[in-house]
Amino acid sequence: MRQRTIAEPYKIKMVEPIRMTTRAERERAIEEAGYNTFLLRSDDVYIDLLTDSGTTAMSDRQWSAMMLGDEAYAGSRSFYRMEAAMREIYGFQHLVPTHQGRAAEHITSQIRIKPGQFVPMNMYFTTTRAHAERAGGVFFNCIVDEANDPWSDFPWKGNIDLAKLQALVDEHGADSIAYLSLAPCVNMAGGQPFSMANIREVSAWAKQYGLAIIFDATRAVENAYFIQQREEGYANRTVKAILREMMGYGEGCTVSSKKDNLVNIGGFLATNDDAFFRKAKEMVVIFEGMPTYGGLAGRDMEALAQGMVEMVEDDYIASRVRQVEYLGNKLIKAGIPIVRPIGGHGVFLDAKGFLAHLPQDEFPAQSLAAALFVDSGVRAMERGIVSAGRDHRTGEHHRPALELVRLTIPRRVYTNLHMDVVAESCQELWETRSAIHGLRMVYEPESLRFFQARFEPLVPVLHG
Ligand code: F0G
Repeated sequence: MRQRTIAEPYKIKMVEPIRMTTRAERERAIEEAGYNTFLLRSDDVYIDLLTDSGTTAMSDRQWSAMMLGDEAYAGSRSFYRMEAAMREIYGFQHLVPTHQGRAAEHITSQIRIKPGQFVPMNMYFTTTRAHAERAGGVFFNCIVDEANDPWSDFPWKGNIDLAKLQALVDEHGADSIAYLSLAPCVNMAGGQPFSMANIREVSAWAKQYGLAIIFDATRAVENAYFIQQREEGYANRTVKAILREMMGYGEGCTVSSKKDNLVNIGGFLATNDDAFFRKAKEMVVIFEGMPTYGGLAGRDMEALAQGMVEMVEDDYIASRVRQVEYLGNKLIKAGIPIVRPIGGHGVFLDAKGFLAHLPQDEFPAQSLAAALFVDSGVRAMERGIVSAGRDHRTGEHHRPALELVRLTIPRRVYTNLHMDVVAESCQELWETRSAIHGLRMVYEPESLRFFQARFEPLVPVLHG
């Protein structure tokens, strides 16, 4: 039978105009932004692939649910609706809403990490690691080695390497570990999933030592989809059931609701541990708000509860990940180096392979993201040496193996014609790559420098 096209399981009810600019306008804009795509004005951007965070298009059901928001200061009906949705979909007992993911990370890190303790993570996420380190924790990378090789086709690059965890315990003892902070669809590795078999094994291992797994479940639905597609025994299970099983291996999770949960703002912490829940409620009052809203409006909690229901619909999540694959496959066909397999939330250009003539100290991924914007108004994000920051002890740059430009696809926002425009621009740059020069950093904030750092071209730009 002929392969049939599968279209998006929704139609468009409202549109938001976007504007194409001239090359001269974009050259000026990127110069003013210090060659940092985070510092561009979104009005100057044509297709915004900076992030999939908070950039989702909400459904008509979510918008109408917002009208039902109960804005009570305490005991809001909307909280109980979000709690019920979280319990059914993630399966944890206790819920603490927060204004976004990093607030849940802050609370978790402060409560669960004693200074000097290790916090093993499968690679790292910038804010998760920053909060662990602020709490005195020591980051320990336990991801499999395949994750560092953009060319490896290993389907489970988000997996945890048990041998690395075992070595840590053998050397320092289980008491030296605060908890295991494990992320599905590892963002910094290119949106790469772990397998259920791996999580099951890690969970059994952790139990032996009395160690808790606290998931960063920000992109757990995308990971559940990959398990359904790739792992033996899961093809006939729903994404919803797979997500429940996955979360069952954790004691709790932190979530940035701005991704999987299909909302523009929000996050939460969930756990089965009563003592942790009690302490988290004490802390959330200081930093966020009452435990029944935690930094969110009642209407935000309504949209979030409805988003959780929609995110586990099989045809939605299939179309979401397939759109990412549509763009990735176009780039692969054009011979452009990208991280393989194609990830769940974006396509990651391998800037080391793309700009092999630039040393990492000249910020190849930063340069490539700036060049992409100048070529077509497409905004991407650096995920390489700038994002990795410096080693607090030595003051040296961390030099991550992966030097990437992330083309992150917002959920339900762009069509595949937008993806075609992005692919054409990448191809143009690939063919003229020797003309892309490096950058030098002229302003460097102390923490999370990638957000606000400024750069200058090493070779002056001649404005045409
Ligand atoms: N964990 C992961 C895996 C994330 O990707 C993010 C945010 C957070 C935690 C923090 O959540 O932004 O709601 O405070 N990632 C965004 C991104 C910023 O663009 O990847 P937050």
